[in-house]
Amino acid sequence: PSVAVIVVAAGSGSRLGHVEPKAFVLLQMRPLLDRALDSIFAMREAVQVIVVAPIDRLMDARRIAASVSARHEAPDTTTPPPPSPAATSTSIAAPPSRTVTIIEGGRTRQDSVDRGMSALMPSIDIVLVHDAARALTPAVLCDEVVAAVRSTGHGIIPGLPLVDTIKRIAHSGAILGTVDRSELSAVQTPQGFPRSMLADAHARAAQNGRLEAHTDDAALVADAGLPVSVIAGHPLAFKITTPEDLERAEAILHAATA
Ligand code: C5P
Repeated sequence: PSVAVIVVAAGSGSRLGHVEPKAFVLLQMRPLLDRALDSIFAMREAVQVIVVAPIDRLMDARRIAASVSARHEAPDTTTPPPPSPAATSTSIAAPPSRTVTIIEGGRTRQDSVDRGMSALMPSIDIVLVHDAARALTPAVLCDEVVAAVRSTGHGIIPGLPLVDTIKRIAHSGAILGTVDRSELSAVQTPQGFPRSMLADAHARAAQNGRLEAHTDDAALVADAGLPVSVIAGHPLAFKITTPEDLERAEAILHAATA
C-alpha cells in the first residue's frame, strides 16, 4: 500500500469516566476502537493500519483488529459465487487486504503518533493520523482526505464551521472580545500528510522540545512552515470525550438501526 492510517488509541479517557482506556469502552456492544477500525477497513484502497494502544491493552487491540479484519475480509463460504461464465475469468470484487500493526503508545498523543510512525512500511507515502475516539467517522471522509493530500501535496485536515459565537475571556470570566467566527474551523481527524512532511515536522518539534506544545498533527506541521489546508469535515467524525458524547453516539447508532 501507499497509504497508512495511524489510529491513536493509547489515551486514558479519564473525562469519559470509565476505568478502561477510552478506545476500549463499549459503544453498543463494540469497543470504540472496533468501530473506528471498521471505517478504516471500509476505505476504497488498501492501507497499512497502525494501531497505537496502551501497553496493557496490546492483546486486546490485536484481538479487536483481528475481528474487524475477519468481518471485512473473510471469504463468504455460505453463498457460493453465481455460476456465471464470467466468474472464472473475472475476479469477484474482493475487499482490498490490510496489514495491521499494533504498537505500544506513549505518554502524550504526539508521542503515540511518533511511535506509530516508526512502524510505517517503506512503500507508504501518505500518512493519515486518526483518533480512535472519533469512532463513527465515515470511511468516505478518510477517502476524501487521501484524495486531497494526493492532489495538493499538502497536509489536509477535515473541519466544520462553528455554530456558536466564540468569546475570548479572562480567568475571571470577563469578556475580552468576540472572535470572528467566519475565520474559525473546528478541526477533526483523520488528518492526512505526505509522509515526509509529517516525519520532518515531528523530527523538528522533537528537536526543539515542542512536541507536546501541539494538540494535533496539523499544528505541528504548520509550525514547521509546511502547508496544511482544511476540507469539509463530517458531523459524525465528532470526538467521544464525555459521557454525553457517548450517549449521543449511542442515540445515533440506535436511530440508524431502528
Ligand atoms: O485525550 P484526547 O481525546 O484528546 O485523545 C485523542 C486521541 O489520542 C484518542 O484517540 C486517544 O486514545 C489518543 N491518545 C494516545 N496517546 C496518548 C493520549 C491520547 O494515543 N498518550
